[in-house]
Amino acid sequence: MSTPYTGPLSLTLTQTPTSVQNPLPKATAWETAQILRDVELPMVTKGPIIRRPKVVGAVERLGLEGRAVRRMQQISEKYATGPLMLNLPGKNMATVLHPEHVHRILEETPEPFATAETLKSHALKHFEPKVALISHGTERSQRRRLNEEALDNNHPIHHMAEHFMPVVAEEAESLLDVVDARSGVLTYPDYLDAWFRVVRRVVLGDSYRDHTELTELTEKLRSDGNWAFLKPVDTSGRAQLLAQINRALQKAEPGSIAAYMKDIPTGEDAAPVNQVPQWLFAFDPAGMASIRGLALLAAHPDRVAAARLQITEESGEKAPMLQILRGTVLESLRLWATTPMILRETTMEVEFEHGVMPAGTTVLIFAPFFHRDDRHLDFAHRFAPEIWEKPRTREEWPLLPFSAGTGICPGRHLVLLLTSNFLARIIGQRDIELTSHHLEPNHLPSLLNNYRLQFQLSR
Ligand code: HEM
Repeated sequence: MSTPYTGPLSLTLTQTPTSVQNPLPKATAWETAQILRDVELPMVTKGPIIRRPKVVGAVERLGLEGRAVRRMQQISEKYATGPLMLNLPGKNMATVLHPEHVHRILEETPEPFATAETLKSHALKHFEPKVALISHGTERSQRRRLNEEALDNNHPIHHMAEHFMPVVAEEAESLLDVVDARSGVLTYPDYLDAWFRVVRRVVLGDSYRDHTELTELTEKLRSDGNWAFLKPVDTSGRAQLLAQINRALQKAEPGSIAAYMKDIPTGEDAAPVNQVPQWLFAFDPAGMASIRGLALLAAHPDRVAAARLQITEESGEKAPMLQILRGTVLESLRLWATTPMILRETTMEVEFEHGVMPAGTTVLIFAPFFHRDDRHLDFAHRFAPEIWEKPRTREEWPLLPFSAGTGICPGRHLVLLLTSNFLARIIGQRDIELTSHHLEPNHLPSLLNNYRLQFQLSR
């Protein structure tokens, strides 16, 4: 049953002199091993930067994501509020257990909770060493500002949406042609090919439509990134990627974000070329989230009917809002988070009500623990797009598909605009049947393997 979350009132964050002396509670060595095995290991082996399809399949089959949530629930029963320090030799690491701490940490980013966490920096430096996410201080603020401006951080409809909508329509049409040629069968590889054509055209320009080598090079460097510091950086591959992006920014093809980038005033540390690989990379999870959204719709015919009605109602708009389909993609991300671990690193000692977190601590916010906590959410395991109708507030239980606070994903509105309209083009023209999985509406699985998804589309 849903327990109302009373937000800040449920936890008093005032400091007491004793808290200054006390360290935070610490997990035992055995509990730490359990957290590493059940929560960290599946996530790392699945591939933090680019997924390994076979491992995703195994994690789905074995229900390991559900086990991770249950492990965190068990730990939180014992330690209540946390944050809980893990018992690791030579490394300070803490896991967050209480909603109020989630809100606080994300709001107090990047000081004292820096986004530039050490392991994340090792992973991302393989292809974007100067991206905002792993920068700090003035560099971070200039880079973050550039991202916010280019991606229209605060606007549900990007100011260039009129240029993007025809691209979405054309590529959805060409996907449907491919599907028709395959007797109505829609698979993930075909979906992703079409999706990345949208991405390359929107970000870099129409002439990049079939530039699949660029996507492949990004994927290669991302798979190096999965190994973080365990693999040397392919400096020549990285230089090649950044040079190609630089050329696209110079070309500034009309109607693309690359063209708009030219007009954004930036500081000398903004490193525009280094921001773009993050966009190309992050549109990959957007593809996963939207096809899983299609699977959710296929399992909920009443929602498809409501979404179709909305598509018709908004058909006169140049860039329709499509709230139901946006809610569908957000639900896909809540149920099957594509960024399950949000990482921060403390830049100084931080006081919590039960003790002090040392400087240099890696802070882990495991989003599925909050998204699928059936002790507090009655919709934990079902499809509930209606929860996204209004913006969620700080007083509510934290749901973090795009993170929150000052480090929130600046691309979230653009993702939702493009994915919702792409889905609209499919469900607006075809009936959809999910043939690869059986989804139980009130008990959705802890992971849905996007690589195995298959649909039968009919007119
Ligand atoms: C479904 C797709 C996506 C999801 C789920 C997602 C989620 C996230 C999350 C959770 C973060 C915060 C990470 C952290 O706090 O450590 C983030 C950061 C970021 N995202 Fe996204 N993202 C998506 C797509 C995109 C796209 C398509 C773009 C660009 C076009 C983008 C641009 C960024 C940037 C620039 C940051 C770093 C922000 C900063 O440094 O403060 N994201 N994203």
